[in-house]
Amino acid sequence: GIDINKLRDLSGAITLDPGFKNSGACTSEITFLDGEEGILRYRGYSIEELADKADFLEVCYLLIFGELPTKVQLGEFETHIRKYTLVNEEMKNIIDGFPKTAHPMGVLSALTSALIAFNPSAVNPENKDELYEAVCKLMGKFLVIASWTYRKSMGYPLNYYDNTLGYVENFMQLMFKLPTEPYKANPIIVEALDKLFILHADHEQNCSTSTVRMVGSSHAGLFASVSAGISALWGPLHGGANQAVLEMLEEIHANGGDADKYMAKAKDKNDPFRLMGFGHRVYKNFDPRAKIIKKAADEVLKTLGVEDPILGIAKKLEEAALVDDYFVSRKLYPNVDFYSGIIYRALGIPTDMFTVMFAIGRLPGWIAQWKEMREKKEPIGRPRQIYTGYGLRDFVSSDKR
Ligand code: ACO
Repeated sequence: GIDINKLRDLSGAITLDPGFKNSGACTSEITFLDGEEGILRYRGYSIEELADKADFLEVCYLLIFGELPTKVQLGEFETHIRKYTLVNEEMKNIIDGFPKTAHPMGVLSALTSALIAFNPSAVNPENKDELYEAVCKLMGKFLVIASWTYRKSMGYPLNYYDNTLGYVENFMQLMFKLPTEPYKANPIIVEALDKLFILHADHEQNCSTSTVRMVGSSHAGLFASVSAGISALWGPLHGGANQAVLEMLEEIHANGGDADKYMAKAKDKNDPFRLMGFGHRVYKNFDPRAKIIKKAADEVLKTLGVEDPILGIAKKLEEAALVDDYFVSRKLYPNVDFYSGIIYRALGIPTDMFTVMFAIGRLPGWIAQWKEMREKKEPIGRPRQIYTGYGLRDFVSSDKR
């Protein structure tokens, strides 16, 4: 491998690259992405094959520990995660302090930070047992608190992990089980969710993952670094796009369904409006995840018998953008978030929970990248700048300003 510390010594003058459009920040063995060809692989396995044949926990293990687990390893992983799904009762007091209207992403970030108070170890990545325990703890508790952000917003009592169910199935019962009724998750929904989580599990140095690595580079603990990643994911130009897509489609529908009008708005350089769910920093031909998810969306909607006018608008936008000069010349294609919101809606997940769903999927990627960054002993992240402000000025007292 390449020694990142040696690379650093070779750097000379400062290069300016706002948004890191061309600058690599690290070497990584986790995810391979070719934006021109539309290729995405986790640890060498194609996303198409993983989405088709693996389940989410297997993919988590693969990303975090580097290899697909044996049956025994997978069983142990699941058992360990289950062991840590109880969340300290005092965490409920923290949830009680939020208004019902709080956005679930804000609550999720705060609760993940709060978990640190109950699990104060900063996690030494060189201690394999300690690391394994921290990974399982975070995966277990994160799923539960993610569901609690929704239960809180609905004013429902909080649910607990059910040890007889798998990880993804558990999420459905944590979210939707009511005390008065037995809950049985629809296997089609569980399968679709599992696939969605796999598609979101890692995406190399995106904004939230870079945040996790950056925060972790100061040797802040795993939980603290992930909490920062959640905040980065929340933004509408990143994970928040899935919520923004649905809100945009709803707005177009409420205003008479005129997709062309919104296409024109997106193209107007005097209008800040962007067509949400279109474009990607790296994929300039197609987003391979969008291809898989579009197919999954069609299947799920057909199987569940969902008829939704919003879908018609999505189709119109998709078709119009594919032949429109503005979109074609800028290589703006529907990204994964254009379709994920449509599936979440069909599964009965409320719109402001969409980005939380993304966070559940992305958690193993954040963990894997944090672990890799620490194992490679990367230096603290500290970008330089080119100063463009005033030269030296004399101080003027307040009565003379
Ligand atoms: N609608 C209209 N125009 C767009 C859009 C869009 N969605 N996306 C990019 N453009 C235009 C820009 O205005 C710019 O035009 P110009 O060259 O005439 O100035 C050109 O396309 C290039 O756009 P940039 O902003 O330079 O591309 P960048 O790589 O910085 O941004 C991003 C990528 C943030 C994803 C952008 O395409 C966008 O804002 N999309 C909408 C939000 C979205 O869907 N985000 C989800 C990303 S995927 C994810 O996080 C999982």
